[in-house]
Amino acid sequence: MIEPSRERSAAAQRDVDNHLHPYTQLRDLERNGPLVIVRGEGVQVFDEHGKGYIEGMAGLWCASLGFSERRLAQAAHRQMETLPYYHSFSGKVPGPVTELVQTMMQWAPVPMGRVLFANSGSESNDTAFKLVRYYNNARGRPLKKKIIARNKAYHGVTVAAASMSGLATMHEYFDLPLPDVVRVSCPHYYQFALPGESESQFVERLACELEDTILREGADTIAAFIAEPVQGAGGVIVPPDNYFDSIQPILKKYDILFLVDEVITGFGRLGKAFGTQVFNLKPDMITVAKMLTAAYVPMSALYISDEIYQTIADASAAVGIFGHGYTYSGHPLACAVALETLRIYSTDDVLGHVQQVAPRLQQGLRSFSNHPLVGDVRGLGLIGALELAADPAQRKPFDPKQGVGNYFVARAQEHGLILRTLVGDVIAFSPPLIITEAEIDAMLERTSQALADTLAWVRTWGAP
Ligand SMILES: Cc1ncc(COP(=O)(O)O)c(C=O)c1O
Repeated sequence: MIEPSRERSAAAQRDVDNHLHPYTQLRDLERNGPLVIVRGEGVQVFDEHGKGYIEGMAGLWCASLGFSERRLAQAAHRQMETLPYYHSFSGKVPGPVTELVQTMMQWAPVPMGRVLFANSGSESNDTAFKLVRYYNNARGRPLKKKIIARNKAYHGVTVAAASMSGLATMHEYFDLPLPDVVRVSCPHYYQFALPGESESQFVERLACELEDTILREGADTIAAFIAEPVQGAGGVIVPPDNYFDSIQPILKKYDILFLVDEVITGFGRLGKAFGTQVFNLKPDMITVAKMLTAAYVPMSALYISDEIYQTIADASAAVGIFGHGYTYSGHPLACAVALETLRIYSTDDVLGHVQQVAPRLQQGLRSFSNHPLVGDVRGLGLIGALELAADPAQRKPFDPKQGVGNYFVARAQEHGLILRTLVGDVIAFSPPLIITEAEIDAMLERTSQALADTLAWVRTWGAP
């Protein structure tokens, strides 16, 4: 790996000595120290030494408005001075919640019944997992509670959300997944198509697999199917045309709820407000988080259909209370920031901007298709990926132990661009939605430099 270019600062040392980092190889971190980020401006962040980086991932796919939107800071400040905290338990509600739920209903991509707040994508998916049970118990179908989830899915890290996720490192040593999660294939044609299989045959095979799985488990035991419209952390996997068109009738046929996880895709990432609209989905529940507040404060939400709401409401009357909610569900600070974020999306036509600049990113990434390290290029809107491969023609990946993706990301960082490696040496791109074409060009130029460095490094050990 790359040696740290400077001596470790006091801040970095404090961190290494005291902080357990999420999603980090902890022994590497002890050796290399963290990158301490102290300031943001537009699409850039700056480290403690003053070096600037284009944030090509918008943090964790979330800082849609960049890192210095004053209108959000002002909205937060106003709310802190007016009502810093209140809750929604036992029939009370902080004022800003009432406005936010109405605005969110106007944004909903299909008619929805109610919105339930939490503080992270994981919590909202966990809530969905619980509500599926509540709903089917209330309908007198206590056996119908298994959830079908896909390989390489990412739904978060709480116990249920991690169980629905389909990445090995989220399960190993944690004794997960929970029972009641049933796994089906991931619609990643590049990696999982059989030799000679066309895209439509691939989709047909996955649809058959889904139906066979339902029949094998028993349709009366399967409650829901959960999917990200475009799988993010699993590798920026854009499903083939027709994938969801083939899946949805099967769900309907067997009375299976469709949970759509729009935590990354919600509020414009794909060039439409939701992935639901891009793929013509008919969800019964939708999870949103991240860009709901432009990530300036934590907030997530779960939209549920009116049919689910009515069933839950009846059950709460029978049980005596709807026994679920977080201290910070619908926190007024988060509501104020979410409202201002949604206002900015409308007044600044952020969606129109995404549609205008997205082709620059997509075409720019595709210009790397013939690079000797690039096996696949994919993306939609302002999300994309380069999948590095040892032998692109044969779609042969590198040995994960070689750490090629990590090397690339370290080089990109050296060139002033923050990106992220996903499993399988997939390099993800998901910049702030406000990025300009000139900034996209700069991002692509730095990508090109990092690819050249990585190729030179790979050639030192004799390949490809
Ligand atoms: C699709 C998806 N769902 C859920 C989550 C979990 O969200 P959080 O990290 O806020 O718990 C993520 C996080 O990246 C995500 O990408």
